[in-house]
Amino acid sequence: MNKGCGIVKGYTDNYERDTYGIIAFWLRNDYDHGRFFDREISHYETELARANLNNIQRLGEVWKKASTKQGDIGNLLKEAKHVTREFHRLLTYTMDKSLRCEVIISTPVSLLDHMVREAEESQRVFKLIERGAKISPSDAIIHESVFWLRQMADHLGYILHYSDVSNYDVNFQVMEMMQKFERLYMQATALQTMIRTPRKDTLPILTQFKNMIIKEAKSLEDFKLQLSDLIKRCAIATTSPPDLLEHIAREAHHLWRNLEEERIT
Ligand SMILES: [Fe+2]
Ligand SMILES: [Fe+2]
Repeated sequence: MNKGCGIVKGYTDNYERDTYGIIAFWLRNDYDHGRFFDREISHYETELARANLNNIQRLGEVWKKASTKQGDIGNLLKEAKHVTREFHRLLTYTMDKSLRCEVIISTPVSLLDHMVREAEESQRVFKLIERGAKISPSDAIIHESVFWLRQMADHLGYILHYSDVSNYDVNFQVMEMMQKFERLYMQATALQTMIRTPRKDTLPILTQFKNMIIKEAKSLEDFKLQLSDLIKRCAIATTSPPDLLEHIAREAHHLWRNLEEERIT
């Protein structure tokens, strides 16, 4: 397990939270998804592989613009929306094919859907930035919890998907954590319907939930980084892409940072 905090936190070095930084976070997210998907497309699927590579290239270019803060936000958003829409189209098309067993890929359907939902969330975020929309703290807490807790439960499921069956104890731990996050997700959906709109003030019950999720997301982030270190040192048997764990740790980090600041964008 990793001991040096400086090493394990390296992945957030270029994670910024100004508007450019948030746009870059989402573009990098899709860029990574494209790269991970690239590993899982059969060599029979040349057209799909080529289309995906084009998406990776375009997403990488726009991500670079966002991370180096080039150009004005309006133009950047237009490009970000465009490349995300293209990638989203490829994912949904492939997901439909996969449901009909008409494509040879090793990516599970639910993982395609996971990536589709993140692409859709990024489109929502881009629109909110564009409109300069004001979201109340309660709405932000509920939105972030409902969206991300399902993703967090999924991540643990994908760790299991890639982890070798022989990792009996780690797999057991991951399964328990997944079930915990499934329960937290259910709690978030309960709060979403119990606390009716318009949500002007923040009820103590929601603040308590928020604090619990921040704590859980922080420890999930640490767990993912510890696993990331093992995978990078080839010290655990897995078929996971080497930087997948960093990717999902960054998402856990993004969740608790947004909750702490009670914001979406
Ligand atoms: Fe992601
Ligand atoms: Fe994710």
